[in-house]
Amino acid sequence: MIKISPSILACDFARMGEEISKVDKFSDYLHVDVMDGLFVPNISFGMPVIKSIRKTTDIFFDVHLMIERPERYIEEFAALGSDLITIHYESTENPAEVLKQIRALGKKAGISVKPGTDYSVLLPLLPLCDLVLVMTVEPGFGGQKFMHDMMPKVSALREAVKAGGYDIEIEVDGGINAETAAIAAAAGANVLVAGSSVFAAADAETAIADIREAAEKAYKG
Ligand code: DX5
Ligand code: ZN
Repeated sequence: MIKISPSILACDFARMGEEISKVDKFSDYLHVDVMDGLFVPNISFGMPVIKSIRKTTDIFFDVHLMIERPERYIEEFAALGSDLITIHYESTENPAEVLKQIRALGKKAGISVKPGTDYSVLLPLLPLCDLVLVMTVEPGFGGQKFMHDMMPKVSALREAVKAGGYDIEIEVDGGINAETAAIAAAAGANVLVAGSSVFAAADAETAIADIREAAEKAYKG
């Protein structure tokens, strides 16, 4: 099943509640990008912002942690009302332990790889996660161009998930619009993060519907 996760990194931060209300009724998840200026060369927002927006909507929070040593803050992000917490494979010494930590707190656990990291590092971690996030841009900034060469990674992970009989979602993040959503869904992605293509659109509802329709047609799950 295709799920759309608008990334609030692309919204107007002065009117976050209003911006979220433009998308939450039409989306499955809300993508929340946390950046620490160390793991990625940008700083976005942190706990107080998540705490405030949590009060404005019941949508499933898909929290993408682009921070060094996320184990330091998992408990806090869980308590703030995250539903899924995705960490980066490259951000911690022991990803398996952090995934266990997330699940022990009753939250869904996700693991992500940067474009330069091979998908095979994730194979031993599949039993510990609910979602795998394949970055289709270098993490750090919205509005970048979709990297087509990440599609073999998506396909290989979809195959591994099928072969292992795991219940794992495959998410893509970066440069997603209706056209690239179809490409990613054809490769086996079922959760599509979209920032600029949704929040910069004249009508967010239509933008989400277009992405969903294109992905549903193309999806090879
Ligand atoms: C980039 C973030 C993305 C970003 C996507 O590091 O993880 O979630 O918001 O933005 P677009 O959809 O504009 O590429
Ligand atoms: Zn993200």
